[in-house]
Amino acid sequence: METSSSELKIPKSPVVILMIGMAGSGKSTLMHRMVVRLGSSSSKVYTVNLDPAVKNLAYPVNIDIRDSVNYKEVMKHFGLGPNGAIMTSLNLFATKFDQVLNILSKRAGELDYILIDTPGQIEVFNWSASGQIICDALAVTYPTVICYVVDTARCVKPVTFMSNMLYACSILYKTKLPFLVSFNKIDVIPHDFLMEWMEDFEKLGEALSRETSYVASLSKSMSLAMEEFYRNLRSVGVSAVTGAGSEAFQKAVQDAAVEFQESY
Ligand code: GTP
Repeated sequence: METSSSELKIPKSPVVILMIGMAGSGKSTLMHRMVVRLGSSSSKVYTVNLDPAVKNLAYPVNIDIRDSVNYKEVMKHFGLGPNGAIMTSLNLFATKFDQVLNILSKRAGELDYILIDTPGQIEVFNWSASGQIICDALAVTYPTVICYVVDTARCVKPVTFMSNMLYACSILYKTKLPFLVSFNKIDVIPHDFLMEWMEDFEKLGEALSRETSYVASLSKSMSLAMEEFYRNLRSVGVSAVTGAGSEAFQKAVQDAAVEFQESY
């Protein structure tokens, strides 16, 4: 088996991968894909589910927020709607996160990866205290990488793509952790056009020609402001369903973990 230089640099400490992204972007499916892939290459993987409202998960869950917090009860008790109840459930769980860290520390010596699934309410990570508490607590002990999952098929409109990238940028800004954008669902549509938009301002301009002049000029100004973010962005195209791009994903995670160890 080939061993890359970045693999060699990773010490015996599990790499934490936090899957963050819009609802339906494919976080849980990508979790499942990576559990299968990493497991079959004899890596030891541990999984944490932080989505209190998810019904079924295809991968085996080791630590599950649903075992500690009943999201439906949170809704009733605090008189909240679904989104508010998810945020509050995460806040409640964050107060017990030391228990999660204790469990992880007992297993850490035998693990290679800790994969963490999160709810589609990504404001948990750029707004609410719980995301910050969870990220900080993990990053103090383990190389921690944010994997921002994007639904490629839903980004064909440049304005939607721009809006998603602004969210991504705000997550990076808030967490300050090594960041990997995974353009998912490339079995539906390859992600090359998104790479072009990030690399070539003119290409984005062409794609924006069907928008009103105000939206087009705002998007162009924003994309100029995003240039620095794009330039340093680590990104891969994947299909959580077919497994395409899994190898590149794993390599990018390892590179990001190396960046963590060199800079944090
Ligand atoms: P939330 O839990 O709502 O935040 O969603 P999620 O981000 O965890 O997405 P999930 O994994 O539940 O996937 C949402 C839908 O997209 C499901 O129907 C998946 O089967 C589908 N899906 C996920 N990844 C892929 C992919 O790579 N290709 C295709 N074609 N469909 C995918």
